[in-house]
Amino acid sequence: MAFLKPKEDTAVQVDFDNLPRHVAIIMDGNGRWAKRRGLPRTAGHAAGAETFRTIATYCQKIGLDYLTVYAFSTENWKRPLEEVSAIMGLLKKYLLESIEKMERDHIRLHFFGDLSPLPAELREMCDRTDAISQRYDGMQVNVCLNYGGRDEIVRAARAFAADCAAGKREPAALTEEAFSGYLYSAGIPDPDLVIRPSGEIRISNFLLWQSAYAEFYYTDVLWPDFSKEELHRALAAYQGRSRRFGGV
Ligand code: FPP
Repeated sequence: MAFLKPKEDTAVQVDFDNLPRHVAIIMDGNGRWAKRRGLPRTAGHAAGAETFRTIATYCQKIGLDYLTVYAFSTENWKRPLEEVSAIMGLLKKYLLESIEKMERDHIRLHFFGDLSPLPAELREMCDRTDAISQRYDGMQVNVCLNYGGRDEIVRAARAFAADCAAGKREPAALTEEAFSGYLYSAGIPDPDLVIRPSGEIRISNFLLWQSAYAEFYYTDVLWPDFSKEELHRALAAYQGRSRRFGGV
């Protein structure tokens, strides 16, 4: 029996004139990637951060408008201190490098999440990159840091309630659009495509409100191994879907 030759990566047909505007990624599988190589989990995060850089640069090159990545969740504080510190250190390193590169690539960096419990130096760096971003109009990368979808919705509800108590808003007049304005993602279009590598098929508290009509793409590839070709597969799968938004 003859085996079919797997399609070459170049055989994946992507229509680059018809890309999703907003792609969101749960960067999962760093720990398993490291374990398979007999390396500490922190090495997996370092490799994952490199992949983030490659994929973000490529997304800018092909003309995506928005890329949102899940870097650290409200639940990730439960990890060993050493691992949390390593992730914070990587974020600092990549932010610092990004600040230099933003000048060249005009990529805008923005953050979703409660930054207040982060180390002061990292928080200041986030503020700085946010401020520099205002000058540019290139692709916007949203880094979810100490982010949780439920936490985001609760904060938005609290802020809305405070505005009502202050007489600025009327509860009965609240619309979905107005509520969206209280989220971290205010003013940003919802993700069209959510990608989760590493074989897990769950949403893990990521963009719960915003992904109501997103298309999902799952792959067994671990995040550090996620390549441009893998992104092509995700984009091609997205382009093969029929989005009906509840209609027919
Ligand atoms: C999930 O993999 C990954 C994380 C919780 C951390 C993601 C952080 C980075 C990629 C580094 C810094 C990011 C930027 C934006 C520079 P996991 O540890 O849960 O993997 P596992 O499920 O295999 O254990």
